[in-house]
Amino acid sequence: MPDICVLPGDGVGVEVMREAVETLKLLNKTHNLRLEFEQALVGGAAYDATGAPLPEDTLKLAKQADAVLLGAVGGTKWESLPYEVRPERALLGLRKELDLYANLRPAKVFEPLLDVSALREEVLRGADLIVVRELVGGLYFGTPRGVVMESDGVKRGINTLTYSEPEIQRIARVAFKLAEKRRKLVHSVDKANVLETMELWRVTVTQMAEEYPRVALRHMYVDNCAMQLIRDPRQFDVILTDNLFGDILSDEAAMVTGSIGMLPSASLSDTSGLYEPVHGSAPDIAGKNIANPIATILSAAMMLRYSFNREDAAATIEAAVMRVLESGARTADIARKKENVIGTREMGERIRAAISGR
Ligand code: IPM
Ligand code: MG
Repeated sequence: MPDICVLPGDGVGVEVMREAVETLKLLNKTHNLRLEFEQALVGGAAYDATGAPLPEDTLKLAKQADAVLLGAVGGTKWESLPYEVRPERALLGLRKELDLYANLRPAKVFEPLLDVSALREEVLRGADLIVVRELVGGLYFGTPRGVVMESDGVKRGINTLTYSEPEIQRIARVAFKLAEKRRKLVHSVDKANVLETMELWRVTVTQMAEEYPRVALRHMYVDNCAMQLIRDPRQFDVILTDNLFGDILSDEAAMVTGSIGMLPSASLSDTSGLYEPVHGSAPDIAGKNIANPIATILSAAMMLRYSFNREDAAATIEAAVMRVLESGARTADIARKKENVIGTREMGERIRAAISGR
């Protein structure tokens, strides 16, 4: 029986995770998934209880599980803590320890939400892209790093952008393979005009492309990509990029869907996967039953697809979300008018009702 490690974390993570787990429990019945859930502490909640944002027990559970579902970590309460025990360290620790090098962030327009985005309908209609972000290397993990005091008493901050050829090859492979099943176009996004590491990125990706003759490869500088995502998001199919650029571009791509509350993600290693909404813990709206649970519920669908090969169950969730959106139900982040706004719980319930055919 597949074991799911459930890590609700902080802020709205707790609320949205409840809806995702309830939804999976329903699918246990309707689709005979036989998923079992084990919950653990992560992030600020774990720090408060144990003094560490990623306790040993949590890490062990995550490593043993067949997949990990994560809500969100962080909050104003923990912002002044030393860097090593900040809630965000838990996320980075999980990524590194589980070697979750491939972060997939699909951004697809939902027809019923066309009027919610800050972008015009005619720019958005039909947009369907996925960001493939390298997740365990680059500037996030490179050494040397830190803040040092120089001999003249001046402080200096240091981070290092570094990628080896194999690191680039394995993430490129994920992007090309994905593109083969989609519209067969990869945009590799870099800053090769300024950074040597990114020049290696470009050369390596170009070499890799020879193994995938059915996929077209285009290179794009990151500044241009940021602009093109807003100007014409429909030109993209798969965006392949490094850790830092992927962080930034995936938030931007979220606007294709109208709200970051709609964006799911998968972080994959060669053997396991962690699934989480792209939005953070949103401390300002936490505990108020306001947050949109759809990103987390769609992350659960990604888990069924990528970790358990249950396309049928994943598609059931996605179709249910679509039906609920078509019915006009909205959480605050995707509502144009204040009336008709429903809460986190109610949105979860509507989606489950749609799955049950109610
Ligand atoms: C994300 C987040 C994280 C990141 C933070 C919370 C460490 O922004 O998953 O995109 O920068 O990767
Ligand atoms: Mg981010």
